[in-house]
Amino acid sequence: MRKELVRFGLYGCNLYRTKQLMDAAAKCAPIRIAVTACHDIDRGKVDAMAKAHNATAYYDLESFLKADYDVALISLPPLLHPDAFDACAGAGRDIYLEKPICVDDAGEEKIIRAARKYKPVCYVGMSYKYVAPYKKALELRHRPDAGKLLGFYMHGFGANKGVIPEGMEDNWRFCFEKSAGDLNNHGSHYFHFIRLMCGEPLSVMAMGYTSSNYQPSFDEEELNACFRLKEGIAVLQESRRAHQSNVVGHCNLENMAIVFNWSSHSEVKVYKDRPRAADEVYEFADSYMTPDTENYTFLQMKDFLTAYTTEAPMPITISDGIQSYRILKAVRESYKTRHEVLIPPPEIF
Ligand SMILES: NC(=O)c1ccc[n+]([C@@H]2O[C@H](COP(=O)([O-])OP(=O)(O)OC[C@H]3O[C@@H](n4cnc5c(N)ncnc54)[C@H](O)[C@@H]3O)[C@@H](O)[C@H]2O)c1
Repeated sequence: MRKELVRFGLYGCNLYRTKQLMDAAAKCAPIRIAVTACHDIDRGKVDAMAKAHNATAYYDLESFLKADYDVALISLPPLLHPDAFDACAGAGRDIYLEKPICVDDAGEEKIIRAARKYKPVCYVGMSYKYVAPYKKALELRHRPDAGKLLGFYMHGFGANKGVIPEGMEDNWRFCFEKSAGDLNNHGSHYFHFIRLMCGEPLSVMAMGYTSSNYQPSFDEEELNACFRLKEGIAVLQESRRAHQSNVVGHCNLENMAIVFNWSSHSEVKVYKDRPRAADEVYEFADSYMTPDTENYTFLQMKDFLTAYTTEAPMPITISDGIQSYRILKAVRESYKTRHEVLIPPPEIF
């Protein structure tokens, strides 16, 4: 066992994601955790988080980096992730890094260089494999009776109606330089999930469309990306015109078809022998209605902490984070050039 007690230093004390993750970590018995150090540029947030955890507040980065903790939880506007990763890894910390891990090639390079130089234990917070319907779809797709994968289709949600909400103009989600757009922010989850369901995509042919009055103008209002797999094809469709707020997917295998959706009525159905009637049906409550120890944030944190304390390989790695970014780049290059673009195989750093 690496540690009986895992001490976290919070780099970014946002009261949303960081709070969710730390609340979940506190419920991961028998693993014990403590938050010992907090840092953010917003003093009010540092103070609130430090008070909640009886931790020390650090208002400057230098002293935060020297403080006493094992894992730096980096959860910042994505533009800042590479510098934060470099600084924390350089200070000898292990790292839980939120997605997306970078927004441009300079950030990608910085992360790879720091990963190679400092070799931190690092987990990347892409979440879909822990979300109930996706978790079930993954389990079914890899069941021995499923057979070989033939085709995959997933439709992403389009909650954004094309107008930046009032007061959110400066939020990193609506600034290309800080996020690289929603196809990086949410896309990092999608691309990781497609790899887990289908294996490594070899290339992509994509079509992107954004109408002239759509906000933010850099986001894909409509995207169709067709990934060539070793065997079969995977299609990702993102549509802001779908007027839905859910994700639906089909996975066709030799011996079954899996239909899944994540929405207010999340379910997974397996079709085998009964035309128009499912052979297996799984239903899931909305994640905010599920017990604390079943929601995806808890499962994700538990997975990380279990691997961390037992010195097992990290369930989601820097290579996975980088691969999501590389797939994003290939998708955008494809629809800009109108060519099929090869996707390099993942590298281990
Ligand atoms: N895995 C998931 O399901 C999931 C869900 C939500 C958010 N996230 C990720 O978590 C990260 C944070 O998202 P959020 O919505 O909580 O963002 P946020 O904007 O609410 O919080 C970012 C925090 O960083 C702080 N900050 C900004 N600049 C800083 C600097 N230079 N130094 C120190 N602190 C600084 C801000 O004050 C703020 O507290 C993002 O990468 C996002 O993609 C992941």
